[in-house]
Amino acid sequence: MCAKKKIAVLTGAGVSAESGLSTYRDNNGLWDNYDPMEVASIEGWFRNRAKVLDFYNGQREKLRNVQPNDAHRTIARLDDNFDVCVITQNVDNLHERAGSGRVIHLHGEVTKVRPETGVYDESYSEREVLDIGYEKVVLGDKAPNGSQLRPHIVFFGEAVPKIERAIEVVSGADIVLIVGTSLQVYPAAGLYRYARNDAKIYIIDPAEVPVNESRVIHIRENATCGMKKFLSIVNKE
Ligand code: OAD
Repeated sequence: MCAKKKIAVLTGAGVSAESGLSTYRDNNGLWDNYDPMEVASIEGWFRNRAKVLDFYNGQREKLRNVQPNDAHRTIARLDDNFDVCVITQNVDNLHERAGSGRVIHLHGEVTKVRPETGVYDESYSEREVLDIGYEKVVLGDKAPNGSQLRPHIVFFGEAVPKIERAIEVVSGADIVLIVGTSLQVYPAAGLYRYARNDAKIYIIDPAEVPVNESRVIHIRENATCGMKKFLSIVNKE
């Protein structure tokens, strides 16, 4: 029996756009309406914890009210015939809710919190991470160890602890599929460069994406339509 082909799927906010969640950098995206340095950076956290908590309370509430779309579902269906690992920059849980089996959240998860350490080195142990679903967190809400709870989000200015695992996945893949990311934020944006020389790279995005590789096949569509096209291509291979 042949081993299943390995697909590394790197997703960004564009995969959740058709579910009704805003992207960050498109017109009227989240960063047009909020300053990321205030609501999503480690400096912003230390300056005004209440503001950061409030921003993520809002994101959690939005997530409660949306559903996975056909792009999430098609990505989940790839599990039937391929050995798939989704590496997402998204902090939503729509890949899991669509049924994807392996999901690495590079930038954290909005439905989770953990105790802050109160210093710039915000390293943590997975055991401290708490799943709060769609609940609100306010200043004064404490972890079992007595520390203020903070969002389980990789803030700007913090390290990306899961990047090593993501590099391993991409460098072992036969196919790298990139869906709905502007590739503006490192180290995630550089991950595709770890693809093997013989790996195929596909991008699904309606806009131009800054990838300088002649082998890239760009499917210029929204995620739902693009994923249908990708599925028919990959099933013929
Ligand atoms: P961006 O907002 O930077 O990029 C969204 C991408 O999705 C763009 O390339 C759009 O063209 C594309 N897009 C929009 N609608 C789409 C659709 N219906 N189908 C497919 N693609 C669509 O979002 P990200 O690249 O995910 O980090 O942003 C990366 C990181 O920056 C985020 O994880 C977040 C943000 O700051 C943190 O907060 C740590």
